[in-house]
Amino acid sequence: MYSINTEVTPTSVGFSSLSDHDVFHMEREFGAHHYERQHMVVRKAEGVWLTDERGRQYLDCLAAYSAANQGHHHPRIVAAVVGALQGNYGSVISNVVYTDPLAKFLQKLGSLVPQLGPRFGQHGNKVLPKNGGVESCETAVKAARYYGWMHKGIEDGKQEIIVFRNNFHGRMITTISYSTSRKYKEGFGPLTPGFVEVPFGDLEATEAEINENTCGIWVEPMQGEGGMYGPPEGFLKGLRELCDKHDLLLLFDEIQVGMGRTGKLFCFEHENVIPDGITLGKALSGGVVPVSAFVCNSEIMDLVFQPGRDGSTYGGYPLGAVAACTAIDVTLDENLPERSREMGAILKAKIDDIAERSPHVKEVRGRGLFIGIEVKNGNAMQYCRQLLDLGMLANDSYGHTIRISPPLVLDESHIDYIAERLEQVLID
Ligand SMILES: Cc1ncc(COP(=O)(O)O)c(C=O)c1O
Repeated sequence: MYSINTEVTPTSVGFSSLSDHDVFHMEREFGAHHYERQHMVVRKAEGVWLTDERGRQYLDCLAAYSAANQGHHHPRIVAAVVGALQGNYGSVISNVVYTDPLAKFLQKLGSLVPQLGPRFGQHGNKVLPKNGGVESCETAVKAARYYGWMHKGIEDGKQEIIVFRNNFHGRMITTISYSTSRKYKEGFGPLTPGFVEVPFGDLEATEAEINENTCGIWVEPMQGEGGMYGPPEGFLKGLRELCDKHDLLLLFDEIQVGMGRTGKLFCFEHENVIPDGITLGKALSGGVVPVSAFVCNSEIMDLVFQPGRDGSTYGGYPLGAVAACTAIDVTLDENLPERSREMGAILKAKIDDIAERSPHVKEVRGRGLFIGIEVKNGNAMQYCRQLLDLGMLANDSYGHTIRISPPLVLDESHIDYIAERLEQVLID
């Protein structure tokens, strides 16, 4: 049994006076070991920087997997949340009554997203709020299945959804059931049936899997956890055509790549392909409290989600709604999608240059500030550990790729900082 060493000098920043040593031991002794952590205790997070106990700064190139797009501890988002708390409006309110933050959030998000599923009518979008991203992914799956049953007449229990190899939509039973990764699902059976996997980017294989029970196609417009791959030119457009032809719902998971991350507010805007529904999360609430949402054409939402068919105690609670409203305002007012596009282009050019001279780099991929560096030896973490020593936090994607996805508020001096460190690690 571990006991706290009270003789260690207290730190001046962060939540408590626990020493790093105590933090490591307490997390190891009392916490599930479901993440492989890097050896660092964060005491402060502000903008693009993380600070440790000794005051050493690390540029955050992971940004909580794109949850901190607006930068850590954004003053406007924090002030809005603190204001709600001080105004006695922070606690959860029962979903049987109305609140004004939720009304504002639904209106703001529903009209922020371009009209989804225009073939169902132009009466706007509707929003179903949740908390963690995976919850909204489950909601999207429910929407497709119910649509298949109610609208297409598929026998209940026979609905099929097409998903893609190396997809990632979270870690609950249904979402792991259609994961390609054995590690994610082994031992957790029985798994949820009703999913058919095809290679990401393969339109022919997708069409070949469509049958009378298919109700939807569920895809990340760019894969994040699966190795940071963009779709081949025309792939998303082809999926749209298949969905129109066979009357399927086309659903995009924008949880990691939405909210400006790839240089557009929504990743699907790169190819001008309009899905019928999307999921959002992570940066939707500025990385302060968890908020996610399923957004779709209002006709679909009304068809599928009537009282009793879904719900969440905290989904849409005032604090989350306030955080999300402010995070959306910050994203627009600070032109973060454009910033991601501009800064991403500068950073990508520097990384391409390093890659050309590096014996270690296999390929550089990405859009905006969502850049993957695939390494030849397949061990991206080896480089990430060296980067940590040099004052930069990065992590792998799918083992083989170093993920560079910093907060979108970074400037050119930060880009130079990142490039200098990548140069040191990737050039012998
Ligand atoms: C594309 C995508 N969907 C869903 C999720 C799950 O989100 P959460 O971890 O908030 O449940 C993630 C998380 O990384 C993701 O990248």
